[in-house]
Amino acid sequence: MRILGIESSCDDSAMAVIEIQDNKIKILGNIVSTQTIHAGYGGVFPMMAKREHIKNLPIVYEEIIRDCGENFDAIALTVGPGLPPSLWAGITFAEELSKKLNIPIIPVNHMEGHLLSAIIPEFKLNEEMELKGVPENSICLLVSGGHTQIVHIEKLGKYKILGTTLDDAVGEAFDKVARMMDLPYPGGPAISRLAEANRADVITMPSEASRKPNFPRPMLHSKDYNFSFSGLKTAVLYYIRDNPIKNEEDKMMIAKEFEDSAIEVIIKKVADAMEEYGSSHILLGGGVAANRYLQNELKKLAEERKFEIYFPIREIIGDNALMIALAGYFNKEKATNEPQKAIGTWPLS
Ligand code: KG4
Ligand code: ZN
Repeated sequence: MRILGIESSCDDSAMAVIEIQDNKIKILGNIVSTQTIHAGYGGVFPMMAKREHIKNLPIVYEEIIRDCGENFDAIALTVGPGLPPSLWAGITFAEELSKKLNIPIIPVNHMEGHLLSAIIPEFKLNEEMELKGVPENSICLLVSGGHTQIVHIEKLGKYKILGTTLDDAVGEAFDKVARMMDLPYPGGPAISRLAEANRADVITMPSEASRKPNFPRPMLHSKDYNFSFSGLKTAVLYYIRDNPIKNEEDKMMIAKEFEDSAIEVIIKKVADAMEEYGSSHILLGGGVAANRYLQNELKKLAEERKFEIYFPIREIIGDNALMIALAGYFNKEKATNEPQKAIGTWPLS
């Protein structure tokens, strides 16, 4: 089965083509066009994102069919969750294409895409590969700009959200803290680079130590799998107000202390979920999965408790259409010509 994946839930206009049968997959194309227009604004403006998608989707499509041909059995399309104007740009594009090519649309939940991204192996275009299955009774940590979720996977397609954020998503908190430090959007990568630089720098000046913030670990002991990052974000805001940033070292210290707090809470909840469900596999997905400190802390936990981690490969950590095409394959029975009717009907939304 040959599937065209289309993703436009936020600020990436992405398309991918896969050929897949049972557990054999061939990736024919994978293009992500990230909108740079939002960098100076500290966040994504939905209407601006929509305009960019309307401009970019046809360009990305031309490029992908130049490489892969225009012969598909179905379109896998992200229908949510995401920014509604961005989603609609993709839906409108896919509906027109589906009519033109006379093929159905498989509506896909963006978060199931991130969950499945963890089973996609390192790949070379056009090379057939074996797909790892989704491990049964596993835990998935989904950390992105819009979500922070711990999901129990009973088996492929059978998911239960154990906990979620009550306010800001963790990626959003990274982005907002970055904005407080005048770093461009998305701020997660910059914050993690600063934090990493601070961790590598073993000398702490006495003056710095006395000014060291003591950021909260929100809901660390809440005995559930929910998160809250807005208090942590506010704590950073107040700290910066009372201790104005003077130099790069100040930024490095704040970034590290913030990252320590956020990741400590996440790791504790993941460890608890693994224990409660007796899981021995964890899947990681979403843009924040790129965070090196999170990856290292998870690896430490995995070594200690003897469980296996499925990390998404670097190219598909952020939003992409490859994970959407794969999720489409696993949901092929949902194929329809009216994807808009499927909006918001998923357990993972
Ligand atoms: O999954 P994604 O690409 O888009 C959404 O579905 O939201 O995630 C984007 C988020 C942004 O908030 C970005 O700052 C964050 O992932 N991010 C990171 C890192 N790289 C990206 N956060 C922390 N550390 C990183 N290295
Ligand atoms: Zn995403």
